Amino acid sequence: MDGFRTIIEPFRIKSVEPIRMTTRQEREAKLREAGYNLFGLHSDDVLIDLLTDSGTGAMSSEQWAGIQRGDESYAGSPSWFRFEASIKSLFPFRHVIPTHQGRAAEKILFSVIGGPGKVIINNTHFDTTRANVEYTGASAIDLVIPEGRVPSSTHPFKGNMDLGRLEAALTEHRGHVPAVFVTITNNSGGGQPVSLENLRGVRAICDRFSVPLFLDSCRFAENAWMIREREPGQGDRDVKDIVRDMAALADGMTMSAKKDGLANIGGWLAVNDDELARRCRELLILTEGFPTYGGLAGRDLEAIARGLEEVVDHDYLRYRIRSTAYLGDKLRAFGIPIVEPVGGHAVYLDARAMCPHIAPLQYPGQAVATALYLEGGVRGCEIGSVMFGLRPDGTEAPSALELVRLAIPRRVYTQSHVDFVAEVCCKVAERANELRGYRIVSSPPALRHFTARFAPLA
Ligand code: F0G
Repeated sequence: MDGFRTIIEPFRIKSVEPIRMTTRQEREAKLREAGYNLFGLHSDDVLIDLLTDSGTGAMSSEQWAGIQRGDESYAGSPSWFRFEASIKSLFPFRHVIPTHQGRAAEKILFSVIGGPGKVIINNTHFDTTRANVEYTGASAIDLVIPEGRVPSSTHPFKGNMDLGRLEAALTEHRGHVPAVFVTITNNSGGGQPVSLENLRGVRAICDRFSVPLFLDSCRFAENAWMIREREPGQGDRDVKDIVRDMAALADGMTMSAKKDGLANIGGWLAVNDDELARRCRELLILTEGFPTYGGLAGRDLEAIARGLEEVVDHDYLRYRIRSTAYLGDKLRAFGIPIVEPVGGHAVYLDARAMCPHIAPLQYPGQAVATALYLEGGVRGCEIGSVMFGLRPDGTEAPSALELVRLAIPRRVYTQSHVDFVAEVCCKVAERANELRGYRIVSSPPALRHFTARFAPLA
């Protein structure tokens, strides 16, 4: 609405889901039982769940109507054709390969293009992306711009690829790089956007080295909205056109529909290369399903098809980006260090700045994340040395940043929920100097943050 300062939720609520209050004593016991790993909690013991924005969004009435419409035919379902058409209207790649979520698309693609001696370059690999690259024996390099590693830097496109280092890496590894990836938005670096100008730069360099460019597009609509808001000359454009511009610069994409697909499950891989598509479809049939449903039910294909229309709506995106920034504004006003500028899907607390007394390999992010749960039943996610500190050779090294991500599910929480979260953060920050670090008691060889067990340090 023109002329108003308050940006409201562009929807009303017709179905509600109760959330459960717990006592501090209960939360202490639950956390101990979970080995101080927030992934180990039962979610009904969590009051406000900001663990992830992935698959946790609320669907619209039209998406639920699509769930009813879903046609479950094994081959050639009309739901498949609606799904494919909705993807191609934004991302006109020749081949769309449906998968049950983003990492299944990664697994298939890297099984084909990865392998020992290969190098995949990304602005920043998300944890499953890196794990899927490394699982094939390939190595994963992150080349985000230097500002992207500085939490206080207010660069408008902190997700941008460092073009100089990209060129150097492609020179050094010439002949061994099967793909360059750009993750939009850059989740592991704080949900930061990548500019169209930077994507054009990446494209030009890829062309010079004849290397294909892929988008890890999980949060493509949020990225496009921030391009519209921040990039010179983009302010009057339709977000759909900005998305098509991004797609036109790439040779393919991986996607988790659990984010900007506005669905609870789903994903896809899309490519232009016919031979690559053929090899990927062979693996798809082996591990996911027939090419017109992949890892999904017809009803899921419908929910995603409709979600892709809703996610590029300007009123939705204005509300979405503003409501995330609202939490960031409140925390900043309390003097709590956060990653600046606030990203699209999450606010990231800078746990290293909050707890300078906790060494990186005593996991300051884990200390802050567990404190938020104990204080107010809020569940966030450590994105620091627990998640990234374990190297493939089994040794540990501190992560570049020690963050706690408060990811905002789409269309789920109201402003008073967010006010409550800010109050919980404030209470934790007030006594952050009393927080203690952790040691890891047991952990698996990869993706340890999901199942590691911790003990608080004395
Ligand atoms: N790429 C990015 C940038 C992601 O953020 C994720 C998932 C994936 C790939 C994998 O997709 O979960 O559907 O298999 N991110 C979630 C998160 C899990 O919490 O940030 P998936």
